[in-house]
Amino acid sequence: MKNRFRNPIMLLLFLTLSVISFAQKGPILVVDADKPISKIQPTLWGIFFEDINFAADGGIYAELVKNRSFEFTNPKEGWVFEGAFMSDSPVLILNRGEENINNPRIAQVTINGKTCITNEGFRGMGIRQDNEYRFSLLASLKSGQIKVSVKLIGSDGSEIGSTFINPADKSWKKYESIIKATKTDSKASLKLCFEGDGRVQIDMVSLFPVNTWKNRSNGLRADIVQKLADLKPGFIRFPGGCIVEGRDLAKRYQWKYTIGNLEERKLIINRWNDENARATPDYFQSFGLGFYEYFQLAEDIGAEPLPILNCGMACQFNTAELVPLEQLDSFIEDALDLIEFANGAATTPWGKIRAGMGHPESFNMKYLGIGNEQWGPQYFERYALFEKALKEKHPEIMLVSSAGPMPSGPMFDQAGKELRKYNPALVDEHFYNTTQWFFNNATRYDNYERNSYKIFAGEYAARNGMQGGKGEIKSTWEAALAEAALMTGIERNADVVYMASYAPLLANTEAFQWSPNLIWFDNLKTFGTPSYYVQKMFSTNKGTELLRITKDGKALTGDDGLYATVCRDENTKEIIMKLVNKNAQATKVDIRINSKEKGATTAKRIVMQSDDLTLNNSIDKPESIIPVEDEFKTGRGIWSLPLKAYSLTILRLRQN
Ligand code: AHR
Repeated sequence: MKNRFRNPIMLLLFLTLSVISFAQKGPILVVDADKPISKIQPTLWGIFFEDINFAADGGIYAELVKNRSFEFTNPKEGWVFEGAFMSDSPVLILNRGEENINNPRIAQVTINGKTCITNEGFRGMGIRQDNEYRFSLLASLKSGQIKVSVKLIGSDGSEIGSTFINPADKSWKKYESIIKATKTDSKASLKLCFEGDGRVQIDMVSLFPVNTWKNRSNGLRADIVQKLADLKPGFIRFPGGCIVEGRDLAKRYQWKYTIGNLEERKLIINRWNDENARATPDYFQSFGLGFYEYFQLAEDIGAEPLPILNCGMACQFNTAELVPLEQLDSFIEDALDLIEFANGAATTPWGKIRAGMGHPESFNMKYLGIGNEQWGPQYFERYALFEKALKEKHPEIMLVSSAGPMPSGPMFDQAGKELRKYNPALVDEHFYNTTQWFFNNATRYDNYERNSYKIFAGEYAARNGMQGGKGEIKSTWEAALAEAALMTGIERNADVVYMASYAPLLANTEAFQWSPNLIWFDNLKTFGTPSYYVQKMFSTNKGTELLRITKDGKALTGDDGLYATVCRDENTKEIIMKLVNKNAQATKVDIRINSKEKGATTAKRIVMQSDDLTLNNSIDKPESIIPVEDEFKTGRGIWSLPLKAYSLTILRLRQN
């Protein structure tokens, strides 16, 4: 040995070989940067909006008054009427019946003196000091003179803002006034006191923050929409979920009742109203957030709108009520009319309604879902009729069909077999499953049929144990890491999977039926779960072309606890690597990028990590676990990348 090193060439050779063998200690991951293997759809990572967990009323829809039009099953739900009981009360609920079929109930106040009514809001009202609130109501003064004082009442009973209105007209008229709040309170209420001698009828009692998303008067909560916009979602699916189907057909979602004047939108009980558990027995859909507002939201956040329509079937987990095939025409008509409402010229009947609501331009809708999570022969025969009619008149619309609620098994296989007889552009698969299932299923799409419909992974979430609404917010870093592992498999198969969305999206911390969810909120605040940040890391680093990354010629799909995917962003000329280490130990991987480009040696690195797999964020600690960004030096040739235990790492490398 000693003798060999007397020769300097031998010494140099020995040192070089040592360096190489040291550098090769970890597995070498090879990236073929100049050979894109497929396009990545701009729609790949999107969001799934359903009015579950008080996501719409009591959530993103910024209305603070619960049961503003007295149309809940119990017309006084959410209201406290002062004074005498029932028929002796100065405030009565009147039903106008045929006179206003969509919104028949009103409150009638008859006084000689004073009486007050108070609305509790959705688990209270979130009010911010110095912010302005737009109060409005419809009123018709029947006789005498009545002044209405309008007060914001804090949780301690003190007044934290006020205004008044004087209804003067006999005919129904909208009265509006701004209240400036003097104090922040997450559990405020709204009190209306009627003073004078006479009779007044009221309806549509409303209170909105002035500061909504884009300051719209029938607007959305700006903080929640911002969380969605930050995801830069490729699409937004709406309005659900099971609410599309309804427990029975009478309670299905009907988009035509959700547009036009607010007071004409016909309220229904929500499919997720939880009468048995008594946790959320006051869950209704006012449709203040209706199809026009959904399209507008999609446009605002740059997402393709993907509406889902009822296909003549009520929820198969509930009544499974069916519309006979020969009576399906009006359902198909609804779909055709929706295309006209979204895309038709302002001169067409439905396009004119859209234009009248403030959007003469088309919403440029490209996708339409037929049925939610349906399965079985009844679904396929109904889907077939929709497809025939829609393809005939609108071949440009890409139809989304359903693979049912299971990600595998006979029901799923049957859907695959049957739907191949038709021409859906995408088939929607759902998988709510354990973290282990997610870690094991990063290869799920590797062997999918390439020459058939594309996949919409429309609802997925990993969970530790059962999901449920028993007061527990069930999101963990482990679940998010498992989702990240599976998502590498989705991106690696971007030629087959064109859309994917976590579900459910939103939940009110005080009124929910399902957990885990992506984003939680209370009356004033919001926080993203670890899953939210994983979604955000993928969707804001999505790239335009898929590249190959291999170890020993094979994809990284979790065999040794590592998962990886790589793409390229044609616009920014960057290579984007995503790596998941699900192991309890930190490791390092050696990487070689095969490219004719020299590339930069400094990368942007984004890492999400915690040794505590049970970690979640919360209203009070919204950033316990979030991604952290820094700069990372790569080096040339083969370079090493450290991967922390239980981590998701993203690297963005400039190519030239
Ligand atoms: O996301 C919650 C529910 O899960 C959806 O409403 C339904 O489509 C699925 O069963």
